[in-house]
Amino acid sequence: MKIPQILAAFLLTVGSQHALAAPVNDKEVQDLETRSTNTGNNAAGGNTASNPIEVEINVSYDSAVTFDADCWAMLCKGKPHVLRRYKETDDNRKATGSNANAEPFKKAHQAQASKRGVKVPPAPNQYSGQQPYTSAEEFPFASATQGGKGAYLFPAPRGAQNSQGGIMGGVYSHYGIDPYSKNAANNNGCDDNWYKIVKFTGSLGPYCKAFNNHINSATKPSECNSGTKVAGDWGFDVAEYAYEFTGPDFSYVGK
Ligand SMILES: *[C@@H]1O[C@H](CO)[C@@H](O)[C@H](O)[C@H]1NC(C)=O
Repeated sequence: MKIPQILAAFLLTVGSQHALAAPVNDKEVQDLETRSTNTGNNAAGGNTASNPIEVEINVSYDSAVTFDADCWAMLCKGKPHVLRRYKETDDNRKATGSNANAEPFKKAHQAQASKRGVKVPPAPNQYSGQQPYTSAEEFPFASATQGGKGAYLFPAPRGAQNSQGGIMGGVYSHYGIDPYSKNAANNNGCDDNWYKIVKFTGSLGPYCKAFNNHINSATKPSECNSGTKVAGDWGFDVAEYAYEFTGPDFSYVGK
């Protein structure tokens, strides 16, 4: 390659990585997942639950509240940290799954949601850039086969969700994690779909810090105790806003 060609190739690479890191909405995250490269067999594993690809997730400041909710669910409530990436993300969000599609934290849905067991989410604040906490964060992720029914929902700002979507898209791409599909025809060569979250880096809330130190311990850390309130820069304990869709209601999980 001549220098200008090398430069062009470099710029293209930088450009596509930038696009990966900053999706602006759900649609882009889905497009990105659809586009994600199929890397075939991965020497590092990923074919089975017992041989997952070990991943580290680098959390950004604005996504920290969503990952902290996930960390609580794994660390304190025993939700799995070995996950299988899933293609049919939307199926998990429907009424038969987590029912995140019902958007139970949204202002327009609050009267209805309160009849179904959901309290008003925290008010917009400085951490959220004055955005409302009305988007439903799901764990296990909707983009995992373990998502859907039984997943917990937490109120989060839309921007935090978008940022998290970009980070997970980057993780899938970086580690070559393929989506598993319920339609067998989609799975040809896409068999590296199991991953294990071993560590969080970056901007961490209290539960993700505790996750790093205690996920492999037999005993739960004090952060998990119902009498111990822990909050990140968002100013509330995410565990106190956890719900599970039990159909037809959202049942409060709490701390
Ligand atoms: C995490 O991302 C930040 C930028 O958001 C970067 O400065 C840092 O080096 C990254 N850390 C790791 C461990 O990748």
